[in-house]
Amino acid sequence: MAVPLLDLTRQYAPLRDTIRETIDRVCDSQRFILGPEVEAFEKEAAAALGVAEAVGVSSGTDALLVALMALGVGPGDEVILPTFTFFATAGVVARLGARPVFADIDPVDFCLPASEIERLRTSRTKAVIPVHLFGQSADMAAVLEAAGELPVLEDAAQAWGAAFDGQPVGGMGIMGAFSFFPSKNLGGFGDGGLVTTNDTGLARRLRELRMHGQSGTYHHPTVGGNFRLDALQAAVLRTKLPHVAAWVDARRRNAARYRELFGAAGLLDGTVRLPEALEGRGHTFNQYVIRVERRDALREYLLERGIGCAVYYPLPLHLQPCFADFGGTAGDLPVAETACGEVLAIPVFPELEDAEQEEVVAAIAAFSGRG
Ligand SMILES: Cc1ncc(COP(=O)(O)O)c(C=O)c1O
Repeated sequence: MAVPLLDLTRQYAPLRDTIRETIDRVCDSQRFILGPEVEAFEKEAAAALGVAEAVGVSSGTDALLVALMALGVGPGDEVILPTFTFFATAGVVARLGARPVFADIDPVDFCLPASEIERLRTSRTKAVIPVHLFGQSADMAAVLEAAGELPVLEDAAQAWGAAFDGQPVGGMGIMGAFSFFPSKNLGGFGDGGLVTTNDTGLARRLRELRMHGQSGTYHHPTVGGNFRLDALQAAVLRTKLPHVAAWVDARRRNAARYRELFGAAGLLDGTVRLPEALEGRGHTFNQYVIRVERRDALREYLLERGIGCAVYYPLPLHLQPCFADFGGTAGDLPVAETACGEVLAIPVFPELEDAEQEEVVAAIAAFSGRG
């Protein structure tokens, strides 16, 4: 049996009629740029995330970019971020002419540890970006304490619905950045993103920056860009929003079931290491990432059998060619470098069926000589 890594058609099928009516509503209004759908989505998203303000933007990448612009990050500044994350976390820093300062990760939660902030901060550090990787909150109490007065921008792209000690991600740092890339916990029908904050002054600035930096029509105190969320995306996201909690629950159920299945298959003797849902971190399992020693061989084996899997991420950011000028070399950040060689994401999407999970585990057991 083939098992997809992600099958969004299963999420769409029961919502199809409602979503198509929603799209019709926007088409009938012919209001495609900002307007009532975006405003309503921003209010609903802010309520769901427990923040004062939510600003819809064009992607998760632009959410990070515009947040850093609002903080005034630019040439000469340093921003501390984990080396093991999606490219955008560091790309936005470099695009502003600032220096991404790559940190190693915690071996258990894959996130930025407070000790790295302490090790890497300098007088030039302008901000810190913890990433709630794979859907689990970073240790925000420790991160905020280590950052002190430095602004903390949460990269919550993968973690809608996660919380640290009951506090939703995106509202603990000075700002949070979310992505609505279709594979995320809350996915749009294309690109989209959100910046969250409890600071109304910052929210105003973010709204100006996403609109070419204008404070009034054609009046530009600063240079911004076109970082707007489309009304069509906002309308689709509004339709999906009430379902996200149930989808996240289903991801958690699938994760718990994997633990039972891998245990029953005798694979928890070190053959396969499962992701840890740490106490008080609200793991949402946007990705279910196992660790194995012969990762590349297992990946090939699963793909040959039609079992979806993927490597997030094969190369840490400090070793990416485009960041060579920042002087990173192999061996600098060993925890992340080791993870890059061992991680493998397997299917965990909410609609995944029991039999499909059994198939995935059976295939990994067969590969490991336990079949
Ligand atoms: C950790 C992280 N940050 C930022 C982004 C960027 O989001 P987007 O793809 O919406 O630009 C992503 C998306 O994949 C991500 O996973």
